[in-house]
Amino acid sequence: MTQPASVVPPRHVAIIMDGNGRWANARGLPRTAGHKQGVEALRGAVRTASELGIEYLTIYSFSAENWSRPRAEVVFLLDLLRRFILQDVAELHRANIRIKVIGCREGLESDIVALLEHSEKLTRDNTGLTLIVAFNYGSRQEIARAARSIAADVRAGLLDPEEITPELIASRLDTVGIPDPDLLIRTSGEQRISNYLLWQCAYTEFVFVAEHWPDFTRESFEQAIAEYRRRERRFGGLAAQTA
Ligand code: FPP
Repeated sequence: MTQPASVVPPRHVAIIMDGNGRWANARGLPRTAGHKQGVEALRGAVRTASELGIEYLTIYSFSAENWSRPRAEVVFLLDLLRRFILQDVAELHRANIRIKVIGCREGLESDIVALLEHSEKLTRDNTGLTLIVAFNYGSRQEIARAARSIAADVRAGLLDPEEITPELIASRLDTVGIPDPDLLIRTSGEQRISNYLLWQCAYTEFVFVAEHWPDFTRESFEQAIAEYRRRERRFGGLAAQTA
């Protein structure tokens, strides 16, 4: 299928909010100040996505690999998530935003799991933007969980190996029911995917922006979308003029 991206707005935008530490270092501030400012940029990005009519926004708030950071930074990031939920969920709910959390909840502190569940439950019937928070998320781990669940069904005689299709695998991922991202934005100049939505990004357009995440503004978001609109999405097919 060939689709000129220029006429199709991105339904789903995924963001890797990178560069908080460098933003802080450049100002002689502790890394935690960068994360704090990152939350402000996140609030702005959610507002922008909502106003632009984007249907799904996925944010990488804490990766499965982030546990290897110094203990004090991990504790700070966990507290930031707690505070973000406590302070912002009511307002997100009022703005008709639906929250969904992806990632592994096993082994997380129980109050965090309760907060994540509360925010999903409170907002589940909202019909505006779906904000997908990737927390303790790693794509390889997600795919391994899906593989384990399929293998268990095969072992129980509920599934024939012949029935394992890409659609079946997608239906066992945390993102079941969510369309694949059209656009992935990574800030701070790094050009990597870092174990984020590996399955889901098979045909996603990537836009890398130089700014660190705390400097990501509405204008940066609009520019990334403009860049996406200039791309031609072929999904493995041929260019429009040669089809
Ligand atoms: C990457 O910057 C950012 C993170 C690992 C955390 C992202 C978190 C936020 C933007 C705020 C928290 C959001 C919620 C919902 C709690 P980095 O630390 O890797 O920066 P660096 O590459 O410059 O060191």
